[in-house]
Amino acid sequence: MRIYKAKDYNDMSRKAANIISSQITLKPNCVLGLATGSTPIGTYEHLVEWYKQGDLDFSEVTTVNLDEYKGLPRDNDQSYYYFMNEHLFSKVNIDKNKTFLPDGTEADSDVACKKYNEIIHATGGVDLQLLGLGHNGHIGFNEPSDTFEKETHCITLSERTIQANMRFFPSEKDVPRQAYTMGIQTILSAGKILILVSGEEKADIVKTAFFGPVTPQVPASILQFHKDVILVADEAALSQCSDII
Ligand code: GLP
Repeated sequence: MRIYKAKDYNDMSRKAANIISSQITLKPNCVLGLATGSTPIGTYEHLVEWYKQGDLDFSEVTTVNLDEYKGLPRDNDQSYYYFMNEHLFSKVNIDKNKTFLPDGTEADSDVACKKYNEIIHATGGVDLQLLGLGHNGHIGFNEPSDTFEKETHCITLSERTIQANMRFFPSEKDVPRQAYTMGIQTILSAGKILILVSGEEKADIVKTAFFGPVTPQVPASILQFHKDVILVADEAALSQCSDII
């Protein structure tokens, strides 16, 4: 795992956008695995800015997102489809037909997951997977568990995740209790993984996930086994790791 220490959130975002932009420049028809949450917002802002300056071309890029809330339609402003449209897709020259997320409106979980697995397989594989890190070590919506789930599955969100995500909703009861998420094996199949972490409140989980034992109770810990992972984290997020790195 390569670790890039960033000064702060903006520095982290710029470093991450540089890596994604290199990927697009080197392979214009690449497949990007994308993430939501507050962490990658600054990264998307940089990519949009560079696109507007004429330095980036998304026309041949395909994207597959990590996850989507079950039950939220695309036009719900808390759906991850809405988020991606708001922060990236509507602001760059990407072909919307090449942007994919699990279908949150599909009530049958087996159907939703099967369809999404087929979509991911049809892309030929993810070149670069962007990830954020949940407070409990989740990646996508792969929550702490006794086993690593391989492919897309329906997950019941943990209480910790509901609490963390309620800041985006009018109240706790509005937070969906379930989501569809890419599985761990799919995430690990990506050629390269870029994980972003910012802020002191993630300092403990950064240390546990990347320097502790590999266990499904800390899903991100499995990234220690991937051959090409870049962790871009700011000083606050790395503050518990100063004796290690
Ligand atoms: C959410 C998302 C994850 C994200 C994580 C951290 O629940 N499903 O993909 O990485 O939580 O979010 P944030 O970046 O807002 O801390």
